[in-house]
Amino acid sequence: MVRCDLLRLTPLLLLGCTSKSSPTDGVNDTGVPPSATMDFSATEIQMLRTMWPLPDVTPDPTNMYAEDPWAVHLGQYLFFDEGLSSSGDVSCATCHDPSQGWSDGLKLGEGVSQVHRHSMPLFNTANNRWFFWDGRCDTQWCQAIQPIEDVAEMDSNRLRMAHYLANDESLSRAYRETFGSLPDMSSWPTDGRPVLNDPDHPDTVAWMSMTPEAQHEANIVFTNVGKAMAAFQRKIVSRDSAYDRFAEALLVEGKATDDHMSESAIRGLKLFIGEAKCHFCHAGPSFTNREFANIGLGERDWLSGGDQGRLTGIIRLLEDPFRGDGLYSDAAESSIEKLAHLSTSGEQQGQFKVPSLRSVALTAPFMHGGHFDTLEQVVRHYGEVNEYPEFGHREDLLLDVSLDDQQVEDVVTFLEALTGAPLAASLESQPESPLFTP
Ligand code: HEC
Ligand code: HEC
Repeated sequence: MVRCDLLRLTPLLLLGCTSKSSPTDGVNDTGVPPSATMDFSATEIQMLRTMWPLPDVTPDPTNMYAEDPWAVHLGQYLFFDEGLSSSGDVSCATCHDPSQGWSDGLKLGEGVSQVHRHSMPLFNTANNRWFFWDGRCDTQWCQAIQPIEDVAEMDSNRLRMAHYLANDESLSRAYRETFGSLPDMSSWPTDGRPVLNDPDHPDTVAWMSMTPEAQHEANIVFTNVGKAMAAFQRKIVSRDSAYDRFAEALLVEGKATDDHMSESAIRGLKLFIGEAKCHFCHAGPSFTNREFANIGLGERDWLSGGDQGRLTGIIRLLEDPFRGDGLYSDAAESSIEKLAHLSTSGEQQGQFKVPSLRSVALTAPFMHGGHFDTLEQVVRHYGEVNEYPEFGHREDLLLDVSLDDQQVEDVVTFLEALTGAPLAASLESQPESPLFTP
């Protein structure tokens, strides 16, 4: 490690070393001299500059309503609306509950019936390149419409949803004020959607009875609802954590200080970007490289088994009419490059999305199958990867990570420092009316 006294290149880095003579000097309770904790090498500083600050929410040209306050408001109303489910008692918030870190505290999601994966937390999802554990959507609005038709989640369909909007006076007004008039639905069946690989399903039969023009109109209503929910979810941002304050003091003021993060958390940060190699995947200010990896999780009793992850995700994305470069995108050209190089390979078996770690301490249990109940179990897993049966090809770089008890604790303490400031309470429940009043 490059010590502070060797750093002569930039004054800022030198400033970063002044804590050597900080009041915390002397040996602390864990026996680790604070200078070892508080000194940051040039390499560490360089790495941290790639991990702070968190930029503003990424623009989404595929959704022209992404910043529209009417759409945000209607999207929030619909996010909490149980009327979108067939049973009338499931909304997005059932599984993405603001008081549970926008997840649900369960191993596997529970909607109209049990889902085969763990409900993902929604912090900073507008920063995603891909959505779902398997990346089967490339835009936030493509994601938002799937739960409505997923039989285990909300078990409804796009025609039923469109009639639901049309039959409710304030919802249809809110829709009209945001997107323009709803189409004439008088000749549409009450239920219908193209059910994947099931041409004989009554919903598919009903859907196929419609003219292509009517199908197209129904798809526009469906995707507009997705775009409104996407606009709302752009507000679910985790920022201003203890880590952000620590990084600001270090990188802007040049002060390594334990005012914001404990020394244990600071040691955890150094492990995270060093020996523990977490930053290879949990990179950047959102703590994700926004891609996929196989971390050798293996199966659990409560899982149906054989979840292929990214491999089936790519196949579904390539077939999806609601892709960012498709007919329903507001800027198809903006997605072409991202989608151009997608292809399947055996490597993708058992790969899942690298999740953001912002506010991760609020969202137990963890992983695509709710494998672990605590962050400690998660971090221990990384030191024990080779003890799990291999499914697909796990990343080799994980195989030589080994952490002792103190190091595990330090990394967990660091992860806890990623919890962001609370969101405005007004975002955490259903507004009284879907109508926006500026
Ligand atoms: C029954 C529980 C359930 C309901 C209801 C539900 N979700 Fe989810 N959500 C999940 C699960 C489980 C996943 C991961 C699914 C997968 O990867 O196959 C997920 C994934 C997501 C993601 C992806 C996050 C990411 O980082 O990729 C978003 C966004 C999301 N849901 C939003 C919504 C919205 C919006 C609604 C309502 C229209 C909704 N969910 C309804 C359980 C649910
Ligand atoms: C090779 C890439 C890779 C490395 C290295 C890596 N992770 Fe992960 N991490 C992932 C992936 C992929 C997932 C999701 C896996 C799944 O659910 O199948 C994940 C999940 C997690 C989760 C659970 C998040 C949630 O919302 O469920 C935590 C916490 C986490 N990692 C922390 C760490 C820490 C700490 C380290 C370093 C010790 C680390 N990761 C190293 C790829 C990686």
